[in-house]
Amino acid sequence: MPNSFSKSVNHLWRLFGRNPMAERVDMSGRHVIVTGASRNSLGYETARILASWGASVVVTSTCNVASMADSLKEDLRRMGARETQVSAHSLDLCDVDSVSAFARWYGQNHGDRLHVLINNAGIHKNILSPRKKPSPSKDGFEIHWRTNYLGGFHLTCLLLPLLKRSGLECGDARVINVSSHLHDRVKNGGLFSTADRYHSWDAYGLSKLALIHFSFEIQRRYADQYNLQSVALHPGSVDTNLTRMAVPGRRTGGVFHRIGCVLASLVLLPLEQGAQTTVMCASKHSLKGGRYYCRCGIAEPSDESRDETTSKLLWDRSDAWVKTLVKPGGNGDEQI
Ligand SMILES: NC(=O)c1ccc[n+]([C@@H]2O[C@H](COP(=O)([O-])OP(=O)(O)OC[C@H]3O[C@@H](n4cnc5c(N)ncnc54)[C@H](OP(=O)(O)O)[C@@H]3O)[C@@H](O)[C@H]2O)c1
Repeated sequence: MPNSFSKSVNHLWRLFGRNPMAERVDMSGRHVIVTGASRNSLGYETARILASWGASVVVTSTCNVASMADSLKEDLRRMGARETQVSAHSLDLCDVDSVSAFARWYGQNHGDRLHVLINNAGIHKNILSPRKKPSPSKDGFEIHWRTNYLGGFHLTCLLLPLLKRSGLECGDARVINVSSHLHDRVKNGGLFSTADRYHSWDAYGLSKLALIHFSFEIQRRYADQYNLQSVALHPGSVDTNLTRMAVPGRRTGGVFHRIGCVLASLVLLPLEQGAQTTVMCASKHSLKGGRYYCRCGIAEPSDESRDETTSKLLWDRSDAWVKTLVKPGGNGDEQI
């Protein structure tokens, strides 16, 4: 497989070569949401850097929100930054009520400003046993699709009014979708049909391909009128909770797992480097929207992701699904 081989060579080259770092930008006055920021994750590191540059950052996790916030605040104190820059709230992207509650909470507690939404939260299940199909979401969707794409789509729709308003007010609002280079394993057809044989890497790839279509469609719809830009990115292969889940021996614990973690840390990028492209996309002045980024620069996504007809169709289908969630009499979403 020349594609996988060249990806591996590229990865090793990057791991041991110099990695581009985002240039520090004064983020004072910018309001940012980073989804999925539990400790040892890319979201945590992204939030830590952006808050230390002056942004007001809201982070989310499905659990242990208080300890995540405490840890981030402690890190900021140690860096000499203001800990009040960070606040945290629970968010389960697979749970419609949780997404609505989060969006309402944000609107009530952070006024009508939102400059950067970073759809970072994500899962990749059964990395080493990809033929094993994980349980679907409570509402019956394939779990990667539901978590990585549909949940983020729903959240973005609810926050769109704030993003548009902020874009009009200050001339620069952004939606940043953390995708993956694995989006290029799959074809557009898979976005609308179920495969005969399950493979978790394909399911993950489809959710990440959908996120790129989503970014490009936001750009087409809202960039000119609302100054709302959107990009997708690949952070690199990074040593996080997600990749450590794949280290053998996790269930049995003990020495094998520890050895596995050490080995993983040798072949995967450290967190600080992994967060750089997201940080750059969230902070760089005059970022080019409607693009796919990697290593702090514009990169080429797959040809499939550039198909505008697919982006539009995917948007329409996802939007139709979101509309089914509005309960009779309204569920409060419209008030955000
Ligand atoms: N690490 C890599 O090599 C790599 C490569 C390419 C792309 N990415 C992408 O980068 C993003 C961050 O991943 P990571 O490596 O930092 O993984 P991670 O350490 O596992 O962090 C993922 C975050 O997503 C949150 N999350 C999971 N399920 C959720 C749900 N249902 N609702 C809301 N939040 C949920 C997790 O929260 P809880 O802890 O509360 O579950 C966690 O904070 C993901 O989108 C991933 O696909 C990672």
